[in-house]
Amino acid sequence: MAGTHLLSHHSCSLPKTHNHSFTKNPLPQNLLFPLKSKPTNKPRVLRAVISQNTAKTPLETTKNTHFHHCFSKSEDGYLYCEGLRVDEIMESVEKRPFYLYSKPQITRNVEAYKNALEGLTSIIGYAIKANNNYKILEHLKNLGCGAVLVSGNELKLALRAGFDPTRCIFNGNGKILEDLVLAAEAGVFVNIDSEFDLENIVAAARIAGKRVNVLLRINPDVDPQVHPYVATGNKNSKFGIRNEKLQWFLDAVKEHPVELKLVGAHCHLGSTITKVDIFRDAATIMVNYIDEIRAQGFEIDYLNIGGGLGIDYYHAGAILPKPRDLIDTVRELVLSRGLKLIIEPGRSLIANTCCLVNRVTGVKTNGSKNFIVIDGSMAELIRPSLYDAYQHIELVSPAPANAEIATFDVVGPVCESADFLGKGRELPTPAKGTGLVVHDAGAYCMSMASTYNLKMRPPEYWVEDDGSLSKIRHGETFEDHIRFFEGL
Ligand SMILES: Cc1ncc(COP(=O)(O)O)c(C=O)c1O
Repeated sequence: MAGTHLLSHHSCSLPKTHNHSFTKNPLPQNLLFPLKSKPTNKPRVLRAVISQNTAKTPLETTKNTHFHHCFSKSEDGYLYCEGLRVDEIMESVEKRPFYLYSKPQITRNVEAYKNALEGLTSIIGYAIKANNNYKILEHLKNLGCGAVLVSGNELKLALRAGFDPTRCIFNGNGKILEDLVLAAEAGVFVNIDSEFDLENIVAAARIAGKRVNVLLRINPDVDPQVHPYVATGNKNSKFGIRNEKLQWFLDAVKEHPVELKLVGAHCHLGSTITKVDIFRDAATIMVNYIDEIRAQGFEIDYLNIGGGLGIDYYHAGAILPKPRDLIDTVRELVLSRGLKLIIEPGRSLIANTCCLVNRVTGVKTNGSKNFIVIDGSMAELIRPSLYDAYQHIELVSPAPANAEIATFDVVGPVCESADFLGKGRELPTPAKGTGLVVHDAGAYCMSMASTYNLKMRPPEYWVEDDGSLSKIRHGETFEDHIRFFEGL
């Protein structure tokens, strides 16, 4: 499999024989990207944020004229990733669609959390479920992140990428014994999710011969005001324990002093949260539980408030809370109890660092609907089909002056009517072969990709700190698929 190759290839830069010369962004790079600067006098325009009908935006949109992002449309009408033109990258790589990331944007996103957490003892546990690219994991580990894991394989990958196990947290409502034994052996934190989960953790501790540091995942029953599929902290959720059962769990932990050490309390409300008051409400409830737990003689140090901070998927200039806003709402509470804070961001670290780059196969009209058909699909990026999620879409190069602007559904070739990347998007009618990107594809896109219709998972690239392009994951091939049947 391609993934196995990846682990043994540390430098995946494009082959030296490949000497395509990329056009550098003509705009002043030092406005946003101090690493590569080639100043000109041209002003930066932010066409990316105004190119579409944004009527669906659910938030009050205060126009933010300083919308800074690694992907930007310059005055010449071309989309750039940091300093490289996306249309030129598209022509230079071996396969489309593909995922294109900015490594410096990942660094900037982590720095935003680190700066926000100054003055607190904390762990940034990156939620690997959002994106499990091995090169990205290594980078996040090098930046000092811990990891949040929801399966034994994610645990193995985190250990292989070199994450410090004492900064890793194993979550999940259905953790199996085999994976819990790995977790106990590795010495990661484990969240207790239910009565049977506690029993399994005790069994795993015995098998591993190790005492496990555990946190209780308590359901604070705070409404995160998000799509029901990504809400997790309400009372009918399949995750966590109900607060009225807290005493049962405390008694059970007390009965297993050899196997379990209670070190903290955890909650995770949901994902795509755009109001930080929600985190404050949950943290207030959680520190009250911590007070109760401490009153029973437990010496617990950690408050884990989970992940869930949303991002600006609409690119309409809404001012959304940043990591600092999130941390500032809980800072005093955490300090007042002398707690160490664990946060578990996934989306807000990785989503805006990436686009799925596609090529237009053709344009068609049926009845009253116009369609742009691209080579990417729900197989590579399922969020629109799964959650009706909005992800911003735009063309990577300027449309000819005579291109008609129309309203399109942007769809893939997969044999399902649910195969769409965007609906009702106002765009210039693209010529065959034009590049089209789906923005904010870094989280829950490649990690949720499938091979449905035998569309093989795409390759991934990133723009390096020095502005060059490197491959960070091989695309899967037909031969990879056939290998599953060899020798049967
Ligand atoms: C327990 C837990 N922690 C963290 C996360 C990451 O959430 P997000 O990517 O929204 O930050 C998730 C994702 O749903 C989760 O279930």
